[in-house]
Amino acid sequence: MRTLRFHEYGAALDVLRLEDAEPPTPGPGQIRVNVEACGLNPADWALCDGLFAGGLPRGVGLEVSGIVDALGDGVTGVAVGDPVLGPAPFTGPTAGASGQALLDVWFARAQGLDAVQAAALPMAVETAYRGIDTLGVRGNQTVLVHGAGTTVGYAATQIAIERGARVIATAGETYADALRAIGADVTAYGDGMAERVTELAGGLVDLALDAAPPSNALPALVATVETPKHVLTLSDFATAREVGVRFSGPGGEGVIRPEVIGEYAKLAAEGRFSVPVARTFPLDDWRAAVELSQSGRARGKLVLLIG
Ligand SMILES: NC(=O)c1ccc[n+]([C@@H]2O[C@H](COP(=O)([O-])OP(=O)(O)OC[C@H]3O[C@@H](n4cnc5c(N)ncnc54)[C@H](OP(=O)(O)O)[C@@H]3O)[C@@H](O)[C@H]2O)c1
Repeated sequence: MRTLRFHEYGAALDVLRLEDAEPPTPGPGQIRVNVEACGLNPADWALCDGLFAGGLPRGVGLEVSGIVDALGDGVTGVAVGDPVLGPAPFTGPTAGASGQALLDVWFARAQGLDAVQAAALPMAVETAYRGIDTLGVRGNQTVLVHGAGTTVGYAATQIAIERGARVIATAGETYADALRAIGADVTAYGDGMAERVTELAGGLVDLALDAAPPSNALPALVATVETPKHVLTLSDFATAREVGVRFSGPGGEGVIRPEVIGEYAKLAAEGRFSVPVARTFPLDDWRAAVELSQSGRARGKLVLLIG
């Protein structure tokens, strides 16, 4: 099978190679899928750089949708030929950006959810849910989602609104109208953001989630709440420690609950939830996908088409 992976650590564009490899064999409790689509994430390039370093080579591609092709020992409740989606393990010699991939955790892909939309869900849903849940967002609160134009922020906005919260979202133009359509008040990020947010809110907001790429926004977010402990960042961990903001990610707060991916996949199949897809790329065009992702202007999920 073809697979995108690296044999040494370094910048993604320097170390990634598209090459042939043996398909992985599912171990006990695992399934193997013929991958149809693989979502890409900033975390893929961080893995190339040495995040969670371990044995080499290693694959990239942390979220897949595909058709079940083989079952490991003890697997029940799913059959060869079923369409599924899920997060792909990232410590093996191949991962999701491959003809075939192993999954430890998977969810049925209902009719109504196509392979590309499904591959966009796992990372954004899990991260956004963890962020909103760890912050403790409830109905009757006003919540700022900073970076609501990211895939994580767009998902977090929907999850907070579903909980009954009022959401003020900061975003660029790409998804501003779509965010308004799902019920958020939207303003631009950048200079003057804290003033615009508190004006829209009619005072301080109750909680703020930072879902933006690191952009030195934490001081402005802190200015929109009563105490730094009412802010949680998913990206700027170094500044969080300095300014007393909470964070969720490696070494931070929050519990990973993969099952929420299945819950939101059902809603997505019913047209009640989505993670926006910016572009799809054939696997051969992986370099263009990496470059666009690293530009910080992906404007939605980038998805590799495989198979
Ligand atoms: N902690 C965790 O466990 C975890 C897990 C996954 C991801 N993350 C992090 O979460 C962040 C979002 O991930 P993602 O994959 O959803 O990102 P993404 O979609 O690739 O983010 C790109 C988008 O960010 C927006 N943006 C660019 N500069 C911005 C700024 N200065 N302020 C606000 N928004 C800006 C742009 O949208 P506009 O069109 O709105 O400008 C752009 O399209 C990343 O930093 C990622 O590393 C953390």
